[in-house]
Amino acid sequence: MASFQLTVNGRDHHVDVPAGTSLLEVLRNDIGDKSAKFGCGLGQCGACVVWINGDPTPACDTAVEYVRGEVRTLVGLGRADALHPIQSAFLELQAGQCGYCIAGIIMSAAALLRDNPRPTRDEVSAALERHLCRCGTHQRFVDAVLAAAGSSTGTRT
Ligand code: FES
Repeated sequence: MASFQLTVNGRDHHVDVPAGTSLLEVLRNDIGDKSAKFGCGLGQCGACVVWINGDPTPACDTAVEYVRGEVRTLVGLGRADALHPIQSAFLELQAGQCGYCIAGIIMSAAALLRDNPRPTRDEVSAALERHLCRCGTHQRFVDAVLAAAGSSTGTRT
């Protein structure tokens, strides 16, 4: 066992886990934030994407000892009474199907709009390219991100 300090969604956490434990396991099992999902476990599907210092990062293949800086998950992106514009657009357009991949997709999309508030359709598609969706609703995701464009106010972390 080893001890680690993490800041997640603005709150400090102390966890005791074996070195090599993934950030995703720590978030879900030790901190109780279930928003990021386990899909492939190999950094290839995007279901587990969170921000580390504002950068969309797969949490499944990031060992907790390599996390430097603040982690932000979907839980910290918006609140039930103040949704992030992308969350609102996903709901309004019913962009999700089963929803398993949505947390990671929204974190990548929110980073895109933070850095590029008026992306083209191709730029949205490129930003979401690494995210797999078995329901095949990628075009609805892109529509929702474009609908949210221009109203995003995300912070860096
Ligand atoms: Fe992390 Fe697939 S579960 S990228």
